[in-house]
Amino acid sequence: MKSMNTKLFSGDATVVETPMLAVFVVDRATDNGAEPSLALLSGAGGMQDAAQALLASGEFKAALGETALLHAPSGLEAERLLLVGLGKAKDFSLDRVRKAAGTAVRAAKPRSVRSVAIAFPDTDGQIEKFPAALTVRAMVEGAEFAEMDWDIYRSDRKDCAVDSLTLIVPQMTDEAQRGFDEGLIVAAAQNFSRSLVNEPGNVLTPTVLGARATAMCDEAGLKCEVYSSEKLQELKMEAFWAVAKGSAEPPALIVMTYEPEISPSVDAPVMGLVGKGITFDTGGISIKPADGMEKMKYDMAGAAAMIGAMHAIARLKPKVKVIGVVCSAENMPDGRAYKPGDVVTAMSGTTIEIVNTDAEGRLVLADGLHYAKTLGCTHLIDAATLTGACVVALGTINAGLFSNDEATCAKFEGALAVSGEKYWRLPCTDDYRDHIKSEIADIMNTGKNRYGGATSAAMFLKEFAGDTPWVHLDIAGCAWNEEKKPWHAYGPSGIGVRSIVEWVRSYSA
Ligand code: BES
Ligand code: ZN
Ligand code: ZN
Repeated sequence: MKSMNTKLFSGDATVVETPMLAVFVVDRATDNGAEPSLALLSGAGGMQDAAQALLASGEFKAALGETALLHAPSGLEAERLLLVGLGKAKDFSLDRVRKAAGTAVRAAKPRSVRSVAIAFPDTDGQIEKFPAALTVRAMVEGAEFAEMDWDIYRSDRKDCAVDSLTLIVPQMTDEAQRGFDEGLIVAAAQNFSRSLVNEPGNVLTPTVLGARATAMCDEAGLKCEVYSSEKLQELKMEAFWAVAKGSAEPPALIVMTYEPEISPSVDAPVMGLVGKGITFDTGGISIKPADGMEKMKYDMAGAAAMIGAMHAIARLKPKVKVIGVVCSAENMPDGRAYKPGDVVTAMSGTTIEIVNTDAEGRLVLADGLHYAKTLGCTHLIDAATLTGACVVALGTINAGLFSNDEATCAKFEGALAVSGEKYWRLPCTDDYRDHIKSEIADIMNTGKNRYGGATSAAMFLKEFAGDTPWVHLDIAGCAWNEEKKPWHAYGPSGIGVRSIVEWVRSYSA
């Protein structure tokens, strides 16, 4: 995957020679309906002068994602000055910085501007201050994220790549450098994750997903094992195998291991990252309607999040052991496919009545979660495009968050302040246990009705997490951006990577 040549530069933005210099603008007006009161978020005086006439014109309102472009700005070395709106000054946030940096990069693309510089938002008093490390990091993440277009299979695609990006900070500090370095690592991991989700089901089979994970691990210095059908049977992963056996494509159980440099004490936490890797979900015998089925190539986004997170973890080197477990299969109807009414025994010994073969994600994760525990994981997190019900409940802005442990969940929610991802907690308390009770077996793989479907799925997984602290992310509504925005393209979002990485780091000794 090609990426930008991204540099951190310290000094005066007005003297930087660049085809396009971007600067953020906020609206300081506080009253609703008041005339905008625009302020440039860069201390460099010449910049204010260059933008003055445009700002005074009232044409530009500085809404988040709005841009205005000036050619040959007077007093600046830059060929163009791009004003990027951040919205109201009082709404200033790292998330907006991330989006505004992305907007700058995406504004350059259709203009075939190959090189962009962005001035760090540093004007005293006009905005809330965030630590420089986090601000620089958000800028790098937003810019790298925005650079990606998901048109690799289009013959008519135009090369709109931005090749070079310079972040201009007023002075070089260790903080800024650290934020910059971390931003590059996390953004690369997230884009790698997105590149996996973008692949169609005929290209990215479970075997190919295993090969991509192996290649990543080899490059990053992680141990990686990829197993298939025989190992599933040997481990008695009947739930995972039930899903896999209807496909001509063999499944892949991918185990990636990160060991910190100094080996941790015996009672140190071991983080288990478990991903749903259904490379295509037809629904199986309980087949999905044709309308929209093509989207189900993204049903491995949870797996991609974990593989991406492992990439970042290998490079950030937290002082905690991490094991990534990906359960990958293709859910197909076939003469050998599992059927409604079947009863399977999961690796844990729990018996499961299959009611709907389209509820396959929880089955592969059941064995993945249990297996992670047998590998010594003390804390579990899973990510899965698990339920349509979660999309109905939360839409596409927040992903679903479930947990069986307050402290572990609080750690995850703490990570969100850095990652900027949005999750909304939904219940999975024991009073919902009835949802998955079966007359035939210990539990069944659907809820007793459609109500609270995201919680029914979480209750099923909770059975396999058992007493181990566990967080479950239902990312069905957030893993694919159907809408283009000024700061991102249509396509895979890479959700999960940033938060999971930050959650893992919060356990670093
Ligand atoms: N991969 C789907 C979840 C999904 C559905 C994501 C629609 C996005 C849009 C999952 O495997 C699935 O099909 N779940 C079923 C469960 C049901 C049969 C209990 C669902 O949500 O309809
Ligand atoms: Zn399904
Ligand atoms: Zn699925």
